[in-house]
Amino acid sequence: MLIYGKEVAAKTLEKIASDTNKFFEKYERRPTLAVIIVGEDPASQTYVKNKINGCKQVGFNSLSYEYKDGTSEDEIVDKIKQLAEDKDVDGILVQLPLPKGYNEQRILSYIPDSKDVDGFNASNIGCLCLNRPRTVSCTPLGVMHMLEFTGVDLTGKNAVVIGRSNTVGKPMAMLLLNANCTVTVCHSKTQNMSDFTKRADILVVAIGKPKFVTADMVKDSAIVIDVGINRVDGKLVGDVDFENVEKKASYISPVPGGVGPMTISMLLYNTLMSAIARENER
Ligand code: GUN
Repeated sequence: MLIYGKEVAAKTLEKIASDTNKFFEKYERRPTLAVIIVGEDPASQTYVKNKINGCKQVGFNSLSYEYKDGTSEDEIVDKIKQLAEDKDVDGILVQLPLPKGYNEQRILSYIPDSKDVDGFNASNIGCLCLNRPRTVSCTPLGVMHMLEFTGVDLTGKNAVVIGRSNTVGKPMAMLLLNANCTVTVCHSKTQNMSDFTKRADILVVAIGKPKFVTADMVKDSAIVIDVGINRVDGKLVGDVDFENVEKKASYISPVPGGVGPMTISMLLYNTLMSAIARENER
C-alpha cells in the first residue's frame, strides 16, 4: 500500500490553517517564518519555494533572504541576529546544505532555541535524546506521522535507518527509539548492510543515493519510507528501487509525493507552535 505524504499532510495543514485564524483573531498578527538561502542550488531553491508557498497556504507571513555564494558568514550571522531580535518573527530557517566553505554549525548556533523551527540546534537535539522533545526536526517528525498513518504498533519492532545525518538519520533514530523500536543505524561505512536491512520491520532510507535499496535487501511486508530526493535524467527518484520494493513492502512511500509534503507540514506546525509559545511568554 502506498503512503501518500500529501494526503497524510492535508489534515495537518487544515488544522494549522484554522488554528492560524484563531491566532490572528487573538494576537492580531500572523505567525511569521524567515527563510535564508545561500547560493543557487536548484534543489534548495525548489524546497524554499515550496516552504514559502506552504506559508501562504496556511495564512502565515514569510520573509525570504537570498544570498549569493561567497557572501561573508558575518553578513548572514548579522541577518540571523536581527531576525532573532525581531518580535514579529517566530521561526528562522537556514536552508541546508550551505555551499562549501561555510561553517554550518556556527551559523545555525545564532538561531535562538525559541525560533529554531528546524529543531537542528544542540539543545533541541539534546531534548529529543532525553525523550523530552521540544521542537523536533521536520523530516523525521513527518516520517513518524506517516508511520502513525499505517496504524501499526511500533513497540518492539526492528527499525533500521539508513543514513546518519544530523538533519534526518540521527533524529529519526531517536524518535524511533523513543517509540520503543529496536533501532539500528546503517551508513555509508556499514559492512554487509543487507544483513541489517533484511531484519527491518520498518526501514527508513535517507542516504541520498538513487535506488540504493533493492528488493533483495527488504524483508517481506516491511514498511519502507523513502526520504531520498535525487534527480536522475531530469526525473525525481528516491533512495529506494520503488518498482521492485513495492511488490514486497506492506507500506511504501513514493518519491515525489511521499516524505516531501510531510516535511513542509511539520515545518509549518513547528512555526505555529513557536508563535504560540512566544505569545504565551510575552
Ligand atoms: N535541507 C534538506 N532538508 C532540510 C530541512 O528540513 N531544513 C533545512 N533547513 N534544510 C534542509
